[in-house]
This record gives sequence, structure tokens and C-alpha cells, in this order.
Amino acid sequence: MIVADHITKTFTTDDGSTVRALDEVTLSVDEGEFVAVVGPSGSGKSSLLFALGGISGPDSGKVHLGATDVYSLGPSRRAALRRTEVGFVFQTFNLVPWLDVVDNVAFPAMLAGRSRREARSLAHGMLEKLGMVARARHYPAQLSVGERQRVGIGRALVNRPKVLLADEPTGSLDSANGTQFLDLLSEFNGQGQTIVVVTHSAALAERAHRIVSIVAGRVTDDRPGRLRRLAS
Ligand SMILES: Nc1ncnc2c1ncn2[C@@H]1O[C@H](COP(=O)(O)OP(=O)(O)OP(=O)(O)O)[C@@H](O)[C@H]1O
Ligand SMILES: [Mg+2]
Repeated sequence: MIVADHITKTFTTDDGSTVRALDEVTLSVDEGEFVAVVGPSGSGKSSLLFALGGISGPDSGKVHLGATDVYSLGPSRRAALRRTEVGFVFQTFNLVPWLDVVDNVAFPAMLAGRSRREARSLAHGMLEKLGMVARARHYPAQLSVGERQRVGIGRALVNRPKVLLADEPTGSLDSANGTQFLDLLSEFNGQGQTIVVVTHSAALAERAHRIVSIVAGRVTDDRPGRLRRLAS
């Protein structure tokens, strides 16, 4: 379903120093799989998700989504892939502050070519699944952190992407939100959604099929979690 093949990503800062955020990372995620990525702050987890999601390409190595070599696509085809084939939940939410909850969730569906009416109807369906109908007319600033997470998930899933890439908000560290976030993802995975989630909690990572550890840009461990995969 999604494969990173020896991807390397280096950042050069203004003072000329370099950081190797990803160092020859190879990772293959199957359809229906629920993979948790764990590792210390700065270890390259978000960089990996960005690379997998077609957002920020590696300096070397390849990413395949299904049969598509993601970074061989031109900018507009890659943007189209990002809009429809991949759902992304950002660590910093990135909700649009001047759109209400329904329109935030509907927005990617409109970008993908749906009419506003159709998009809003899909968004309502998502909000029902997320238990967020009562907040439909709220703006992001009027939501709790957990509610913002749910809107972020709704927005990421509204176009029914092949894979959901979710970067657990850092705010989840100090609350029950992390558990709720993983509960929701588990539920969607139970319906067949392929998921790669970055989580800061080792305990929550156990709830996935598989736990991939990243340290200093390298995969240092890849082992089963507690969730068992259904035989297909
Ligand atoms: N745009 C950038 N410019 C320069 N360095 C960057 C950039 N983005 C990331 N880095 C560096 O790359 C490394 C990996 O960053 P990344 O955001 O992937 O870590 P992370 O594992 O997601 O951390 P956290 O758990 O804190 O979110 C870090 O050392 C970071 O400082
Ligand atoms: Mg991060």
C-alpha cells in the first residue's frame, strides 16, 4: 500500500549546519494495517509522515503509494494525490480559523472537485461518526483540544483516502486526548482504514498492529503491538 525505500532527508539551517532528519528509512505498510511510529522528540517522525504523504520529498530514496512513485509526479499531480489518496492529521492541527467545523471538514472535498452542497453533506456524515454534530457551527477557536483533533481527523478522512497519516498533537501528552485520539483511529482502522500514527505514548502505541521506533532518523525497531490483524 505505502512503501518508503531508503529515504534520506537532510535539512541545512541558516548557519550552515545540517540535520539528517531521515537516514535511509525503509518502511512498508500493508493495506488495513495500523502502524504506530514512536521515538524521541526530533527523531524524524513528522519528517517521515511528510515524506510518506507526498508533502515533503526525500533527498534520496523513493516513496510508493500503491503503484505510484509519489515524487516522480509533477507538482500538480502530486497535489492531487495529496488531496485525495492521503489524509493528513497535522501535529499543529492546521484548521482554517475563519471556517466553521463543517466547512473545515468539507474543504478538502471541495478542493477535490465536489460542490459545496455535496462536500458539506459528506462533512456532516463525518461529524456524525466523530460525535461532533453538536459542534458543527463552531469555529476552531471555540473548540477544546480533543474536539480540534476530531475535526482534524474528519478533514483528513472526508475524501476517503487510501491511507491516513496522523501526527498526534503534542498537546495530547498531558491529557486524556491521546487515548481518545487513538480510540477514534482504532475505530476507523476496524472499518478497514490503513493508518500510520505518530504517538508520544508507548502505552498507546501498543494498541496498534505494529510499532516502529525511530531514533535519530533511523528505524531502530519494528515489532508487533497488541492489536491482532484479522485474517483477510
Ligand atoms: N524545516 C526544517 N528545517 C531545519 N530542520 C528541520 C526542519 N524540520 C525538521 N527539522 C529537524 O529535523 C529533525 C527531525 O524533525 P521532526 O519534526 O521530524 O521530529 P519529530 O520526531 O517529529 O519530533 P517531535 O516529537 O518533537 O514532533 C529535528 O532535529 C528537526 O529540528
Ligand atoms: Mg513531530
